[in-house]
Formats: sequence, structure tokens, C-alpha cells
Amino acid sequence: MLWLFFPSIAPIDDLISSVLHRILQYPNILSELILEQNQVLGHLSPSSTSSCSIPEDCFTTEAIRKLVKLDSVCRESFRANNQYTASDRTNIGSEDMILSNGIAIPSGQNILLNGWINHRDDELQKDNLGNYDTFEPFRHIGTNHTVTKTGNDFLLFGVGRHVCP
Ligand code: HEM
Repeated sequence: MLWLFFPSIAPIDDLISSVLHRILQYPNILSELILEQNQVLGHLSPSSTSSCSIPEDCFTTEAIRKLVKLDSVCRESFRANNQYTASDRTNIGSEDMILSNGIAIPSGQNILLNGWINHRDDELQKDNLGNYDTFEPFRHIGTNHTVTKTGNDFLLFGVGRHVCP
């Protein structure tokens, strides 16, 4: 159980820290997020006349999906993070692996995926704002790229066969 516990806590802590740092860096984000939260979850307020009175009944997956600004800030905080994503891989084959760009990974060699490059690559990142060196909190709204959507353009949860379940 500890093998599952520790590796799952560390990245959550990392993600939350990234988001909090961005909110401190751009305080105007906070008012937007509070506004969205009130619009989506406002009925949880004790003064509400909504028939929905028990928070557990109200704080649904459907409601969370409506928090699109929060989702975008989370994705963007990690996309624009200055650290690279160190998903490690090993060529376990008996032969060298030749990548499409000609780089060879010798048999038995360990490599790290460079998320910093992928997260700023004009061809991989696709939204209307561009300028991928810049933190744009709401760039992912309407793009269908949520914080849980993995791919070569977003390596927060790794990629491929051993992607975070
Ligand atoms: C924000 C939260 C999390 C982040 C950013 C994260 C990130 C990652 C990353 C980068 C990997 C490696 C994927 C790869 O090598 O391609 C991974 C693997 C994994 N994660 Fe997470 N993780 C998170 C939360 C969790 C939680 C909550 C659990 C379980 C309760 C979990 C369970 C696992 C497991 C079991 C693997 C190994 C999958 C495999 O090797 O097939 N993760 N995660």
C-alpha cells in the first residue's frame, strides 16, 4: 500500500504547489475562480433556496466538470512549469532503438522524457493563443484539453503504456 501511497501524494502536492504559486503570481485569477465556483456550486450555500441541501449530493462529477476555468489553470500551471517531466524509460530490447529523428537509444539505456520541450512545442500545443513560453491561465477553455487529458502535448501523468491510471 505504501508503494501506492507515496508516489501518488508527491505529484498531487507538486501540482497543487504549482497552481498556488501561479495564483500568487497572478492574483486576478483568484477572483475569476471564485466567481466560477459561486456560479457552479453556489447552491451549496446555506442561504440557498435550492432543494439540494447536502453537499455530498451537490458536489458531483457533473458540477466539477463545469469548473472549466479551474481546470484550465491547473493544466496551464503544469504545462508552463519550468521543470521538465522526468518520466523514465529503459530500452529493454536486446537491440538499439533508432528514433525517427535518427537518435539511437542503446539496448539497456535509460532515458528521460523532456516535458519542457513538448509543453512549449508549437506543433504539439494547439490553441488559439500560441506563445507557449507564456502562462495563459484560461488558454485551455473550449479546447477539450482538460488537466487529465494526457498525450505528447501534456506529460503531467506520463504517457503511453505506463501512464498514470
Ligand atoms: C496529480 C496527481 C498525480 C500525478 C501528477 C501523477 C503522475 C504520474 C506519472 C508522471 C506517472 C508515470 C507515468 C509514466 O511513466 O508514463 C504515474 C504513474 C502512476 N501513478 Fe500517478 N500521478 C498522480 C496521482 C496518482 C494517484 C492518486 C494514484 C493512485 C491512487 C496514482 C497511481 C499511479 C500508478 C499506479 C502509476 C504507475 C502506472 C504504471 O506503471 O503502469 N497516481 N503517475
